[in-house]
Amino acid sequence: MATIFATTPCLARSAPRLSAASLRCCLAPIDRHQRRRLHFGRDAPRQVPDFAFAFDIDGVLLRSSDPIPRAHAALSFLQRESIPFILLTNGGGKHEADRVAELSDKLKLPLDTGLFVQSHTPFADMEHYKDKTVLVVGGDGGKCRDVAEQYGYRNVITPADIYLSNPDIWPFSGALLPHYAQFARPLSSAAPKIDAIFVYADPRDWGLDLALIVDLLLSARGQLGTLSALNGRADLPNAGFQQDAQPALHFSNPDLWWAARYHLARLGQGGFREALEGVWAKVTDGKAALHKHVYGKPYQATYEFAEKRLLRHRETLFGADAARGTALRTVYMVGDNPESDIRGANGFRSPVGTEWRSLLVRTGVYQEGSELSVTPTRIVPDVFEAVKAALGERKWASRLEE
Ligand code: G3P
Ligand code: MG
Repeated sequence: MATIFATTPCLARSAPRLSAASLRCCLAPIDRHQRRRLHFGRDAPRQVPDFAFAFDIDGVLLRSSDPIPRAHAALSFLQRESIPFILLTNGGGKHEADRVAELSDKLKLPLDTGLFVQSHTPFADMEHYKDKTVLVVGGDGGKCRDVAEQYGYRNVITPADIYLSNPDIWPFSGALLPHYAQFARPLSSAAPKIDAIFVYADPRDWGLDLALIVDLLLSARGQLGTLSALNGRADLPNAGFQQDAQPALHFSNPDLWWAARYHLARLGQGGFREALEGVWAKVTDGKAALHKHVYGKPYQATYEFAEKRLLRHRETLFGADAARGTALRTVYMVGDNPESDIRGANGFRSPVGTEWRSLLVRTGVYQEGSELSVTPTRIVPDVFEAVKAALGERKWASRLEE
């Protein structure tokens, strides 16, 4: 199986297209008129703008769970002015409906899942895995298993389940057994056969999770506790590694760094993947690549999905005829991480010809004066100034004031 990184355009097209299933997966059951009142605070908006916004969350709207100053002012202005926006995050770990309810509360804004895209949303669309046995890694307690089951996965195992059934599999997390016991489920076998691995969110126990993933990638056909006889075979592709129906490995978020409450950026799910890549290189004596699928910003498939969500949200807000009567020409992507938000917006090739302009804020991962490997359309102090700058470009009549 080739390493599938949705990073280059050719491979980006190979990344699974996200169909109506995932669009429906988490749309809250509210009708168009409710959504319009929810978003605009009134029944009918004035005009259909030919532009919209996509806002990153961590480092732009929130630092962990603390709202960033003026984020509420910026987004509530857009709602009053009937200017559509979506929230596009590499974060995850809870169901879309739960995350949106939390965001609504923290930002003091009416929001609904129709304008929200998070890291593992694409997993909701993978029907072919839903009857298979999958290992779900990352997140708090059993929350990501709950999300997977809400997406329709019927045989979900977590590292906690495996660890509780066989603590010898990883000698170093014994102190965490009482924690794992709170949400682990008994297994029919202490050595299950796993068909696919999904990293939904940042692992909390990198050691246990990484050890189990390596075990499964070295196993015979995903049977935990075995070793494939093909490993190391020089006459086979990838030196025989991952050539014996081992489970496919899916990551939901490539971020090496992210902006949490701490004043310096923190290692994200991309850091965990890099640690795994390093161990894998050693374990395979440098002879094998790690074959995996990586989703999230900056990849084309994620931005395509987000744009579909934005177009659908726009039609819901204005009605399909009115929305289609004024084509969406420009999307302003407001982000704090050059590698995911800026690189993704700059590199995105819209299937419908929309221009994406990237606005880099200084309230998150990017710190003023640090070297940039990608050039944003504009660098601004925060989300408020980002919206103000975009409205200035559009010569929007109403002014965003403090
Ligand atoms: O885990 C969340 C982190 O990777 C960044 O999230 O909202 O900045 O895309 P966000
Ligand atoms: Mg961010």
